Amino acid sequence: MINEREPLGQIADFPFCLAPMVGLSHVVLRDLVRSYLPEGCHTIWPTEMLSSRRLIAQRLGDTPETFTSPMDDNLVPQILINEDRFIKACLPKLEQWGAVGVDINMGCPQSKALKHNYGVALMGDPEYAHNVVRMARSTTNLPLSVKLRAGTNNDKDFLKRFCEGLYEAGADWLTLHPRTPEQKRKGYADWSQIKMIKDEFNKSLIGNGDIQTWEDAIRMKEETGCDAVMIGRALTARPWLLWQIGHHLGLPSPPGKEGLLPPLTPEEEAQEYGKAVLFFIQKSFEIFTEKDARKRVIFYLKVSHPWLNYGHSISSKIINAKTQEEMIEIAIKSFESSSLTLSKRTELRY
Ligand SMILES: Cc1cc2nc3c(=O)[nH]c(=O)nc-3n(C[C@H](O)[C@H](O)[C@H](O)COP(=O)(O)O)c2cc1C
Repeated sequence: MINEREPLGQIADFPFCLAPMVGLSHVVLRDLVRSYLPEGCHTIWPTEMLSSRRLIAQRLGDTPETFTSPMDDNLVPQILINEDRFIKACLPKLEQWGAVGVDINMGCPQSKALKHNYGVALMGDPEYAHNVVRMARSTTNLPLSVKLRAGTNNDKDFLKRFCEGLYEAGADWLTLHPRTPEQKRKGYADWSQIKMIKDEFNKSLIGNGDIQTWEDAIRMKEETGCDAVMIGRALTARPWLLWQIGHHLGLPSPPGKEGLLPPLTPEEEAQEYGKAVLFFIQKSFEIFTEKDARKRVIFYLKVSHPWLNYGHSISSKIINAKTQEEMIEIAIKSFESSSLTLSKRTELRY
């Protein structure tokens, strides 16, 4: 499925993966999504975005962003880097921690990242961005990837030159989220730019943007020829997407779900979402401090509820609960209703 001679193919044989998302792609969401990975399959897993400036003084595994579970494998942490001294300090640290690759963020449009001249700011200075990859390449033997966006005003020539420089500087694969920096996460991702970069360089490329259903994921792969498909927001609401995709591809069910079919009808999906919400609440309070767990549950509900009919009112009730026990009680009660459905599509707001 993925070219096995390339570093990406050596790590992952299942070409669908979770996207890095601040506040979301932590150990709880990873464990949830992984519980639906077809048996015997391997893919790559992100962390939340890590800041090299902070990482330098932190112990990996001690911060909520780097908490892991015994289930974790194939971690490709995502990092904001731009200076040699931080690169030299952080990449060996990540390697020792057990990362199987490092993903450099060149797509974050938030003002905090721009202020320090990293994230998507690096796309504004191609020579410097390529140098960042060169510095990283000379520091570690780990596979390196870069996650980036479309160019400003969808300038395709710029994007081609930018990607060419990244590959030449030593990036083993790129992940393209083809929205411009100005679009942030609104509007549509222009998948034709994923195809353009794959056709132009025939190098490892992950496509990302606007996947809501298993059919979308298969279509992106077929239409663009990308090596793998990365899914963000939809995996919060539909963490079983990997199972649905695997089922379509004739792969085994996830461990513990042998002989079962993935949830497919809107009603089945709504019930499974209820189970996901419960898992998320219980695990978050087990792993994070109470305050942090609450914050993360609230954010998870905000991003995932729009697919559910009555999602707004159910998530509001859970969010307003005073204690973890009350949250669980409300969630269980809310999902008892058989009139709940999960829609195929929603307007992606976050
Ligand atoms: C809440 C949230 C936080 C995100 N944080 C990051 C991030 O830290 N690093 C990154 O490269 N992309 C980040 N993204 C972008 C996603 O990785 C992905 O590119 C984007 O959501 C498009 O994919 P999707 O349509 O499948 O969600 C974030 C997206 C969301 C919704």
